[in-house]
Amino acid sequence: MPVIAVRDLTKTYDLGGEIAVRALRGVTVEIESGEFVAVTGPSGSGKSTFMHILGCLDRPTSGGYELDGRDVSRLSRDELAAIRNQKIGFVFQGFNLLARTSALENVELPLLYGRSKAKLSQRHRRAREALAAVGLADREHHHPNQLSGGQQQRVAIARSLVNNPSLLLADEPTGNLDSRTSVEVMDIFQRLNTERGITVLLITHEHDIAEYASRTIAFRDGQIVADQQNGARRLASQELASLAPRS
Ligand SMILES: Nc1ncnc2c1ncn2[C@@H]1O[C@H](COP(=O)(O)OP(=O)(O)OP(=O)(O)O)[C@@H](O)[C@H]1O
Ligand SMILES: [Mg+2]
Repeated sequence: MPVIAVRDLTKTYDLGGEIAVRALRGVTVEIESGEFVAVTGPSGSGKSTFMHILGCLDRPTSGGYELDGRDVSRLSRDELAAIRNQKIGFVFQGFNLLARTSALENVELPLLYGRSKAKLSQRHRRAREALAAVGLADREHHHPNQLSGGQQQRVAIARSLVNNPSLLLADEPTGNLDSRTSVEVMDIFQRLNTERGITVLLITHEHDIAEYASRTIAFRDGQIVADQQNGARRLASQELASLAPRS
């Protein structure tokens, strides 16, 4: 059974009057558990709109969406929020960390919402585990402005992991990072995918970044125009090993 099955999905933004933007125009695709998919396409082609619907942040105008076999296309906002909390982690280009808050507290934030209101000691433990998974165990008391861009993005990845999601959605996660730091971040996504079996969907403009995924789906004008397996995917860990250590 696929994790994600969308059928003839459309999204039209109604801007009032005669103006409507058809951001998605009939998207049909299935994604299996454990896949690592890059979503590419020009600006305005509907990538983020697609990801927001997959992430239960927004609902389609028409069409079907089954997540883990359950039709979620008609659920209420509260029901969608509950699913999001349980199953889905998000990572964004701009990190979206709270400035005056330590790395540990940023990672704990998702544990303050939803049904599973964890106790303080439990929250600390889970947040520390997530920080360790992204190699930042020694940075838990740092605030975002005391961390490099790549470290901030790793804190954001740790935050996305703290609820143990089965699906990770990332919208241009390397968009603000230099090339070496981008490889480090892609190494983390590849590890989460291969070692924990997390399904990863990652939007990127960059061809090099898409090559770290095992499948590439290309959008144009709100439709999928190409969908292919990437033959030999690049291994970020190998590339990092061949680089000189950071000074
Ligand atoms: N909330 C909104 N209200 C109205 N129109 C929107 C909204 N969000 C997106 N759009 C429009 O829908 C279309 C698709 O936008 P989307 O953000 O999905 O593109 P994208 O592929 O992610 O682009 P980019 O690479 O620039 O991030 C665009 O024409 C955009 O202007
Ligand atoms: Mg976008």
